[in-house]
Amino acid sequence: MSVRTIGVVMNGVTGRMGYRQHLVRSVLAINEQGGVTLSDGGRVKIKPVLVGRNADKLADIATKHGISDFTTELDSALADDDNLIYFDAQVTSARVKAVLKAIEAGKHIYAEKPTAESTQEAMALAEAATAKGVKNGVVQDKLFLPGLLKLKRLIDGGFFGRILSVRGEFGYWVFEGDWQEAQRPSWNYRAEDGGGIVLDMFPHWHYVMENLFGRVQSVYARAVTHVPARVDEQGNTYQATADDAAYGIFELEGGIVAQINSSWTVRVNRDELVEFQVDGTHGSAVAGLRNCRVQHRSATPKPVWNPDLPATARFRDGWQEVPDNAEFDNGFKVQWEAFIKHVLEDAPFPNDFASGARGVQLAELGLRSSAEGRRIEVPQL
Ligand SMILES: NC(=O)c1ccc[n+]([C@@H]2O[C@H](COP(=O)([O-])OP(=O)(O)OC[C@H]3O[C@@H](n4cnc5c(N)ncnc54)[C@H](O)[C@@H]3O)[C@@H](O)[C@H]2O)c1
Repeated sequence: MSVRTIGVVMNGVTGRMGYRQHLVRSVLAINEQGGVTLSDGGRVKIKPVLVGRNADKLADIATKHGISDFTTELDSALADDDNLIYFDAQVTSARVKAVLKAIEAGKHIYAEKPTAESTQEAMALAEAATAKGVKNGVVQDKLFLPGLLKLKRLIDGGFFGRILSVRGEFGYWVFEGDWQEAQRPSWNYRAEDGGGIVLDMFPHWHYVMENLFGRVQSVYARAVTHVPARVDEQGNTYQATADDAAYGIFELEGGIVAQINSSWTVRVNRDELVEFQVDGTHGSAVAGLRNCRVQHRSATPKPVWNPDLPATARFRDGWQEVPDNAEFDNGFKVQWEAFIKHVLEDAPFPNDFASGARGVQLAELGLRSSAEGRRIEVPQL
């Protein structure tokens, strides 16, 4: 069977996501396995063309991984007809300008979330891509996590009966940078640079809710900056102008209430960094990144409230692990493979710029809800 190679312009590969998840764990891993297999059995390998602001950093990555093409000139990478796809994992604030350029150059576009900082810009990207007739996709990696795939399997199998509510708990302590280095980039904590946990995480929660449970109809959120000053990569103290925690309530179609806490100022007392508890009339589940535990109505204990007695029941022992029953590959890589099949053979790819824009809309309305102290209906885009 034939093997062809397509060029993919990758912008932002010196960053955390661009390097680890997209270049190493996805694109290079796909090439190592022999490419993406198309429906006719043909294979497609990817020639990454690295783009960034710092030639030395790009050269280091290129040398380390035996990559021949890198440039600081986005325009020249876009001018090459062999490059079919433009991928963007830059800081969020740099995305719109570069993506619009790539659309104009006729490239198919794959981008990290959020696709833009405002709904208006995110919609403009979706419209520009449609007008130009280029394929477009946004990273929605959480949908491909083993834990959430098992949760989806439970939903599809009717395990829950009628789903009543979802409780999401996401977060961990991000060090302030003074006595221990921060494990996230400082722009995340500056609103003027596209930071903030609402803009970062609400797009994720949006596609999780929309794909697993139903359309999001309203949002009430309280976004706060618990830690007002942090220390950046250069050791300088800066004001944290963006929210570092958000407490949100979302009403979904079918009357489901989802309550999701997102925080970079919480210490983990959970099994995983994100967990969703779903309660339904027939059963409940707790899904994390990898694992998923269930309790059926037939195995539900009957606690009686009595604070005079010590707690003896081991509630967590009454849950059962959902088996894998499948091989789970890296979610970023799975989505890359799907996007390449979408570009080359029109395979379905629902995670498009329009869905990305709905995620940005939820973030924008979440911030407005917090500023105005009220619940906000989500208009349908
Ligand atoms: N899908 C996910 O789970 C996930 C997780 C984290 C971040 N992200 C998204 O990925 C994108 C990158 O995040 P990251 O954590 O990798 O950030 P990062 O700071 O580690 O990397 C940012 C990249 O953008 C480049 N860049 C371009 N213009 C810049 C500018 N003006 N200032 C600073 N850097 C600039 C940097 O050189 C670097 O390559 C963001 O949009 C973020 O929302 C997605």
